[in-house]
Amino acid sequence: MNASAAIQACVFDAYGTLFDVHSAVARHQAALGDLAAPVSQMWRTKQLEYTWLRSLMGHYEDFSRVTTDALDYALDAHDVNDDALRDKLLDAYLSLDCYDEVPGVLRQLSEAGIRTAILSNGSPGMLEAAVRGSGLADLLDAVISVHELAIFKPHPSVYRLACDRLDVTADAIMFMSSNAWDATGAKAFGFNVTWINRFSQRRERLGFSPDHEIADLTALPALAGVA
Ligand code: LAC
Repeated sequence: MNASAAIQACVFDAYGTLFDVHSAVARHQAALGDLAAPVSQMWRTKQLEYTWLRSLMGHYEDFSRVTTDALDYALDAHDVNDDALRDKLLDAYLSLDCYDEVPGVLRQLSEAGIRTAILSNGSPGMLEAAVRGSGLADLLDAVISVHELAIFKPHPSVYRLACDRLDVTADAIMFMSSNAWDATGAKAFGFNVTWINRFSQRRERLGFSPDHEIADLTALPALAGVA
């Protein structure tokens, strides 16, 4: 069966999938030295944990606040007390690098008539800055933030928002995420899912598996039936 024959829209997670979340710390590697990798990893891990915890607690704060709190935790945990560096890291997070293949793949999908969108935990301002900074604005039909729902992924209402905003049914959407848990949540909701396993992670044991697994986005147009 060619499950991708009816794909009308490709919807992408932002952070880690289109944008390299570790590029912020990488720009300030010299200031952090050996702590660069552990700080960056803890920053990301805490950021995600705080989204899940805030959703469960029913106390939403936007992704900008969550990202700041997670960085403060990570710097504190590594005994880094440098307010100027903290501010530079937060600033760098607004202009993360996109992965090399992203513009070309988005262009290929768009030219084939597939609609393209971001569906992200990111706050609207953060997403706008990231999209503009990496020159992707003209290659995306929609940039959808969870902010209007005041809850984070993997709550099903978030994935439903993409259907509503694009006016496309779940089975006509291919959803891409590098985050295994996000790919799982999207599959549980009912999307066709391609896990972009950039970090060679293991599969989650949550009862739902992605339809496809690829290492980066290069093979996506073929999976979406346009190459
Ligand atoms: C996002 C996070 C989960 O962009 O990477 O939604």
